[in-house]
Amino acid sequence: MNIYLIGFMGSGKSTAGKRIASSLRWSFADIDRLVEESEGESVSVIFTRRGERYFREAESAALRAVSERSRTVIACGGGTPCSQENLQVMASTGVTVWLRLPVKEITERLRRSHNIRPLLADTMDSELDTTVTRLLESRECWYEKADLVIDGVNDTIEDITVKVAALVRERGGYL
Ligand code: S3P
Repeated sequence: MNIYLIGFMGSGKSTAGKRIASSLRWSFADIDRLVEESEGESVSVIFTRRGERYFREAESAALRAVSERSRTVIACGGGTPCSQENLQVMASTGVTVWLRLPVKEITERLRRSHNIRPLLADTMDSELDTTVTRLLESRECWYEKADLVIDGVNDTIEDITVKVAALVRERGGYL
């Protein structure tokens, strides 16, 4: 069994994922990093040179490959759970956990972040709130399918780990 962390860009999936993995003594993997390793290019270069559709196929392939591992906490990209096929891969190999944050918090974190985010690269600072609101609205129907929803602002990493561990046990996984 694996734990899939899903949620919008900038919601802290990688940071939380590494810490949950180390508390549970599980492995950690990050889908964006796996795509970069297999393609030999950064996510932003893949988007620019090959386009979003190519990236989504590489992302699905990385998900399928990592889903064969076990006892791994997997930080997904913001768009990874937004397809029936990808959700099915996650549901059949683990539990899904949505790190939910309000738009205001997401935009503050995105402004502080140094990561290049191709989907927001052309967005001016004054448009960031509107763009994030629209994209989040279009994705919430996917994120809502998670087995567990976490309050990404108020829950501490310890709270999150306890909740995730309870879910794993409930689903018959061992820790
Ligand atoms: C994306 C999120 C990014 C990365 C790519 C596309 C998205 O990952 O996969 O830029 O569609 O939301 P993070 O959520 O880790 O920023």
